[in-house]
Amino acid sequence: MIDENTTILEPSPLADFVETKYIKDITNRTLFYVKAGFPVHFRGVSGTGKTTLAMHVASKIGRPVVLIHGDEEFTTSDLVGGEYGYRMRKVVDRFVSRVLKTEEDMVKRWVDNRLTVACKNGFTMVYDEFTRSRPEANNVLLSILQEKIMDLPAGRGAEGPYLKVHPDFTAIFTSNPEEYAGVHRSQDALRDRMVTMDLDHFDYETEVAITHAKSKLSKRDVEKIVNIVRGLRESGKCEFTPTIRACIMIARTLKVQNITLFHANGAFTQMCQDILASVTSRVGSKTNQSRVRDIVKELVKTNVN
Ligand SMILES: Nc1ncnc2c1ncn2[C@@H]1O[C@H](COP(=O)(O)OP(=O)(O)OP(=O)(O)O)[C@@H](O)[C@H]1O
Ligand SMILES: [Mg+2]
Repeated sequence: MIDENTTILEPSPLADFVETKYIKDITNRTLFYVKAGFPVHFRGVSGTGKTTLAMHVASKIGRPVVLIHGDEEFTTSDLVGGEYGYRMRKVVDRFVSRVLKTEEDMVKRWVDNRLTVACKNGFTMVYDEFTRSRPEANNVLLSILQEKIMDLPAGRGAEGPYLKVHPDFTAIFTSNPEEYAGVHRSQDALRDRMVTMDLDHFDYETEVAITHAKSKLSKRDVEKIVNIVRGLRESGKCEFTPTIRACIMIARTLKVQNITLFHANGAFTQMCQDILASVTSRVGSKTNQSRVRDIVKELVKTNVN
C-alpha cells in the first residue's frame, strides 16, 4: 500500500527544459550507468543544473518518482517510515448480560516513507542535496545500494525485517561539494557506491539557451547578458561566482520592462550592478560590492553597443 502522505510524481518532461549538446551528452552517459544498475550522483556548486538534470534523467527512466530533500534534522524514519499514530480497537463483550466487559487495545500504525515506497515499488528516488542529512540517517542506503536489501526496523509488521529492493529501483543523488564538510565524512562509503558526475557551470551555448527559454528575451540581448555574467565569473574577483540564475534574473527584469537592451541605457548598468553585486557576496561588504560594481560597469560598456 502506498500511503497517501507520500507524494509520487509522474515522470513527465519539464517545462522550458533545454536540451543542448552538453545536456544531451550528460543525460545519455548517466542513463548508461543507470542501465548498468548503478546509482548516479550529480555533484557541483550552486546553479550548475544538478536538480534539474536529476529530474530530467528521472523522467527519461520513465518510472514514477519520489523526491527527497536532504535535511540536517532528518532521521532514518524520515526516509524509511515509522509508527505514526494509533489504530484503536474496542471489543464490547455483552455475552453475560449483566457484566459489561470492554477490551481496548491500541495498535501503532506503521507508515512507509518515501525511500521504502520507492524500494518496494521500483520507483526512481531523487535525493537532492543528500549530504545535508546526517550520515546516520543515510546509513540505511548502504545496504540498499550494495546488497539490494533494505533493513526495516521492527514494528513494520508482517513483512519482516528485510525488504528486497525492486529491480527497477533507481537512485539519483545531488550534492554541493562546498557543503561536504567535516561531519559528513562518513558519507564517503555512500559515495563509493555510486557513479559521480562532476558538473561545472554550463557551456556558453547552454547558458544562452536556458536564459532565453526562462525569460523569452531575444537571443541577441540574452547573449550580451550571458557575456557580462561570464566575464564577471571569469574575473575571479567575486566572493561567490555568479550562476545562471543571475543571467535569468537580469533577462527577466529586462523583459518585464518591455524594452530592448539597447534602449535601457544607464538603467541596464544599474540593474546588472544591483543583481550581480548582491548574488556574489554573502555579507554585503561595501568594498567587495563596489569592486563588483566597477567590473560590471566595464563589462556592460564592452558588451553593449
Ligand atoms: N536543462 C535546463 N533547461 C532549462 N532550465 C535549466 C536547465 N538546467 C538548469 N536550468 C535552470 O537553471 C537554474 C539552476 O538549475 P538547478 O536549480 O538545477 O541547479 P542546482 O545545481 O540544483 O543549484 P543549487 O545547488 O543551488 O540547488 C534553475 O533556474 C533551472 O531551472
Ligand atoms: Mg538544486
